[in-house]
Amino acid sequence: MRGDNSYTRLALDLALVAAVSAGATVDLVDLSTLHLPLCSGPEDTGDNPQTQMLKARVGAAQGVLLGSPEYHNSFSGVLKNALDLMGGDEFRGKVFGLLGVAGGSTGAVSTLGHLRAVVRGVGGWSLPVQISIPNARSAFADGRLVDKGLEDRVRFLGRELVRFTRLHSMVPELEHRLMEIIDEDV
Ligand SMILES: Cc1cc2nc3c(=O)[nH]c(=O)nc-3n(C[C@H](O)[C@H](O)[C@H](O)COP(=O)(O)O)c2cc1C
Repeated sequence: MRGDNSYTRLALDLALVAAVSAGATVDLVDLSTLHLPLCSGPEDTGDNPQTQMLKARVGAAQGVLLGSPEYHNSFSGVLKNALDLMGGDEFRGKVFGLLGVAGGSTGAVSTLGHLRAVVRGVGGWSLPVQISIPNARSAFADGRLVDKGLEDRVRFLGRELVRFTRLHSMVPELEHRLMEIIDEDV
């Protein structure tokens, strides 16, 4: 929610640049710029224009990179509300990359575990690789990560998301081809 001052945003930008260099077209949904309603449960028809816009943008994506600060050992409630406004229609069968940023030295491991559980809940596939950035205030200098190894891993996350999203989108076609080959052999 801190816009351009957000360390999460900085880290996401690094991953998205890597995703673009791997051939992706990216659309950054910055929740601080939206005015989403609070999710009110099953009777929530989602007819709010901001909710519809969010659903359309996420629904159009083949892969999703979720980034969140660690808040009280979990991910941001603002992100949870946004995810709750959506569901299987936007997420089912998609590949997810996960990135968490924490103020403390323990890092955002809890955030990542909780996001992973939510992705499973909406029928998505989380990549095994994930990024936890600890000590956020000292981790960045001039928009870059001080630890170049960690920065390489952030870029790797962006590329892996593109690679697996691409592979995943080929599965139905490959499955179809495989069935044809099996049928030919029978
Ligand atoms: C409400 C709140 C709770 C937080 N809880 C934790 C926490 O449990 N562990 C931690 O390491 N940092 C915690 N922090 C620090 C944030 O993770 C840190 O400031 C992070 O950089 C915020 O992300 P941003 O720069 O993208 O806004 C908390 C910050 C806030 C505002």
